[in-house]
Formats: sequence, C-alpha cells, structure tokens
Amino acid sequence: MADSLTIAVSKGRIYKDALPLLAEAGIVPLDDPETSRKLILDTNRDEVKLVLIRTSDVPVYVDYGAADIGISGKDTLLEYEGDNIYELLDLQIARCKLMVAGPEDMTPGPRLRIATKYVNSAKRYFAAQGKQAEIIKLYGSMELAPLVGLADGIVDLVDTGNTLRANGLVPKEHIADISSRLIVNKASMKMKHATVKTFIDNVARAVARQASN
Ligand code: PRP
Repeated sequence: MADSLTIAVSKGRIYKDALPLLAEAGIVPLDDPETSRKLILDTNRDEVKLVLIRTSDVPVYVDYGAADIGISGKDTLLEYEGDNIYELLDLQIARCKLMVAGPEDMTPGPRLRIATKYVNSAKRYFAAQGKQAEIIKLYGSMELAPLVGLADGIVDLVDTGNTLRANGLVPKEHIADISSRLIVNKASMKMKHATVKTFIDNVARAVARQASN
C-alpha cells in the first residue's frame, strides 16, 4: 500500500500559486477552500490529503510530524525555530521582499524603534548591521505603527509597494528575497522516503517547467 502523505498549506496566495504545481505533480484537491470550510481536503489520490492552516502554523505541523510536507513562505521559516524540518525546494511562488520601511524623513532617536511581526529576522538584520534597535512585536497592519508614533519604521513584506505608498511610507533597506519553500518532516523523509522523494521530484520538475514558460 502506498504511504499516506499529508501536505500542510496556508489558504490565500500561497495556496493559489501552489495549486498548479501540485496539479503538475499529479495532486488535485477535491474541494475548493473558497467555497468549503473543510480543513482537511481529500485529493484525487486516496493516500494524499491537504491540511489548510494559517501561514505561521505550517512549520509547526511539519516540525511535529502532523504533516509530512508543508508549503511555507521563507518569511515564516526565518522566524521558526524547530529542529525537525528540512527545507528542500524553492517553489518560486508568492515572491516578495522582506524590507525595512518607514516615512521618507525617518529620523530615529538614539535607539531605532521597529515594529514587526518578523521579530527574529529584524533582530538578526539590525545586529548584523551593528545597529541598536528596539523591536516591537505586532501581529498585523504594521504600516500603522510609524503613522501613530509607535515606531520609527517597520520590517514587513513588500510586493507591489502599494500598501506602503497608501500609507505614506517608503521602502528603505532590503533584508531578504522571499518565496514559498517545500519543507519536509525529517522522520517522514526517512520513513516514507520513496513516496516523499517521488513527490519532491515531481514538484521540482513542475517548478522547472513553470520557470521556463
Ligand atoms: C502583506 C504585507 C503587506 C502587503 C505588501 O500583507 O504584510 O501589508 O502584503 O504587499 P504590497 O507591497 O503589494 O502592497 P498580506 O496581504 O500578505 O497580509 P498580512 O497583513 O496578513 O500579512
């Protein structure tokens, strides 16, 4: 009997961009998360299921082996501190940049205050720059923080730049290029090696095909 395979993926942009890759790898979900409220989606393959969870929870499920495989943004992985995950493939989808942003005339006091949900990435970045920065953890709408005096600037994802512009902020410093990655639980990699490897090889071929189009 074929090994079961549970794939964790977050709803929204990552899911939409991942669907064509999964389809090319022979996996098609039987439900549409836009219209169904199911959290576990069956697929055309009996042994393969998708679990739909919040972006930041994808590495948690894979780390603990509740999902064998996950599709996770590099921004999330940079924040996550689990030991049981291999990052195996850059899917080259949901691409954007992790950046420092702030008002055009950002004039920090003696200690820069930065609001972000990317606390670890921000700490590492400013430490590497030799800059003292106080990092304030937020869970969303970071762009608001400099507008109301909570922080001098933010660390956030930037794609089109529209959100920054709409709030009178500008990108300042590039921290990292972000895209979605395929992650695998280390025990699954060992115990279900042939199944996991076949899946990864199929997705890798789909990524290569998409890149050449
Ligand atoms: C991200 C990010 C910015 C926005 C950037 O938020 O936090 O707010 O996208 O995109 P843009 O440069 O094209 O405007 P997202 O919509 O992913 O939701 P979130 O606020 O929950 O992170």
